This record gives sequence, structure tokens and C-alpha cells, in this order.
Amino acid sequence: MKTIFSGVQPTGTVTLGNYIGAFRQFTKFQDEYDTYFCIVDQHAITVEQNPKELAQTIRSLAAIYLASGIDPEKATLFIQSEVPAHAQAGWMVQTISYIGELERMTQFKDKAGDQESIPAGLLTYPPLMAADILLYNTDLVPVGEDQKQHMELTRDLAERFNSRYGKTVVVPEVSIPEHGARIKSLQDPTKKMSKSDPNKKATISVLDTPKQIEKKIKSAVTDSEGVVRYDVEEKPGVSNLLTIESVLSNVSIADLEKKYEGKGYGDFKAGVAEAVIQHLEPFQARYYELMESEEELDRILDEGRDKANAVASKTLARMEKAMGLGRHRN
Ligand code: TYM
Repeated sequence: MKTIFSGVQPTGTVTLGNYIGAFRQFTKFQDEYDTYFCIVDQHAITVEQNPKELAQTIRSLAAIYLASGIDPEKATLFIQSEVPAHAQAGWMVQTISYIGELERMTQFKDKAGDQESIPAGLLTYPPLMAADILLYNTDLVPVGEDQKQHMELTRDLAERFNSRYGKTVVVPEVSIPEHGARIKSLQDPTKKMSKSDPNKKATISVLDTPKQIEKKIKSAVTDSEGVVRYDVEEKPGVSNLLTIESVLSNVSIADLEKKYEGKGYGDFKAGVAEAVIQHLEPFQARYYELMESEEELDRILDEGRDKANAVASKTLARMEKAMGLGRHRN
């Protein structure tokens, strides 16, 4: 059976972008693959976090994974910091990474911005991400488009490891969904919808109430043409909303264009909001149920940790032996 690994950072809220680009894909894979889904809390601390809030967000993210349809009977759901091999392998991968290639990562450049003191962890984030993936002998990594560059680097690092130390790790492929791989900000549809956007109107959280969702979609930036037509270049706002409705209601963009023919943006936005609300309603109900059942959540995360540890520690031992660390006899 082939193996899937993916991770989501427990930072802020989970957006509709994360949901469409990542979570929606995850559930499709769990029947046919050996799947590992990780709450990457060690990645989250590359940006300063409030410790109390972080602990809360980790539990909430576990419930979001499960509410989106991850079945703990089939998939392994766990917290990165509870599997020590991640930090250990992360260090080893760092030693074969070059500062130049890390500095070229667009996410590093965006996050570092023009800060005077850039935390070292922001730069060395991708080798940790590579370690996450390599530890599970991963064949395929489902992510949104913004992770493409990190995935290319992960493949380079895996190949570099194998060419220096002998074939030890699996070189993973990336899986980016055909539609919805880059959901845009509602306020600036040329930018991606991002958890860290300070403008709250730009982002829909998967936990927003129907009223909040309606309001945000109503104030989404469109254009002055007044025709509901898919055209990413000329009409990025309308195209983004069409993509959202299409993937959540499973109706093709062409059929949606027909549905809104002769209608204005008011009707269109009401239709998109309705599709989002309807899709999220059962999801949110499951989420709140899970957040109530603390013991069940802990049991699932304990089991996930143990299963992940068993696999990761074996790969780590293989990597350490290949590099000559410790007292591995040849
Ligand atoms: P993170 O936590 O930023 O995002 C989680 C997932 O959501 C996708 N995503 C989007 N998809 C579509 N439209 C958007 N606007 C949008 N915004 C985010 C991301 O592509 C991602 O799939 N580095 C990763 C976490 C990570 C990881 C890993 C992922 C750490 N280790 C190993 C895969 C494998 C990140 O920051 O994702």
C-alpha cells in the first residue's frame, strides 16, 4: 500500500482555503493509502505563539481533521512534537541543506519581510518539513499550491541524502488538486486566502457562523462588469467565488455560469454563501461534538502518536546508520 503524509500548522484559524486545498483531499486518500496526518506544532513556533492559545489550537485542529472526515480507524492522526524523530531527522536534513536554497523560498521571504531580527527557525523550516515527510517513507504529499516550492526542495533534499549516504529515503511526489489549490483572499483576489491576513473580512474560517459567512461573501471584492463568468485574469474575484461554490457543491463551473446567467452579483453572492453554509453545517456540528469529548480526542491522539512513533523511529535509525551517527555497526 502506498503512503500519504500531510501536515497543517496549528496557527490561528483554519480557513476555507486550507479546507478546500488540503482537508478535502485528505479524506479521499484514506481508503486506498496508508495515511498520516500531522498537526505540525513545531512548525507553528517558527513564528512566536502564545503558549496557552497554541495548546488550544492544537486540540481544535485535531477536531477539525476528524470533523472533515478523517477516520482514525483508517488514518494516523498525531501531533508532531509528540514524535521526537521529527526534530532529530529535521536536524540531520538541515546539515545537508544550503542557506542559499533556503533563502530562496518565497514563504521565507514573505514571512521574514523586512524584520531586523529573523528567527533562524523561519529559515530552517523546510528541512523540518522534509523530515516530516521522509520519516514515513511517503509516496505522495497532498497540499495546496503554496507548498509546491517546499515540495520541490523536499525532493531535492531526499535525492541529495540518497546520493551522499546510499539509498535510504523515499523521494516523494506532490499532489495538488486540479481545482481549489489556491483559494484567494476575499478582499484582494490576487493574493491567497491566508490564516495570517490581518483583514478579517478577507478570510472565511471553517468555524464562522452563517451570518459571518454571508457578510464576508457579500463584501467580497468583485468587478464592475456584473456578469458571472470565469476568467481568472480579468475577473479574479468572481472566479474565486465560482471556484468555492463549484468545489463545495460539486457542480461544474460551466453549470454555475448557466445558473447565474442574467443574474447580478447580489444573487450570485447569496448563492455562494448558501453553498458554503450548507457544506460547513454538518462539519461544524461534528466539530463541536468532538470538542466536547476530550477523552475520545486524547485516545485518538495517543494511538496516532504510538503508530507514528513506531514507523518514524525505524526510518530515523536507518538514516542515522546511513550517516554514521551513534553506535550503529556496519
Ligand atoms: P499550512 O498550515 O499553511 O496550510 C495547510 C494546507 O492548506 C493549504 N492551503 C491552501 N490551499 C488552497 N488555498 C489556499 N488559500 C491555501 N492556504 C493554505 C496548504 O497548501 C497546506 O496544504 N508547510 C505546511 C505544513 C507542513 C506540511 C508538512 C505539509 C509541515 N510539514 C509536510 C505537508 C507535508 C504549511 O505551512 O501548511
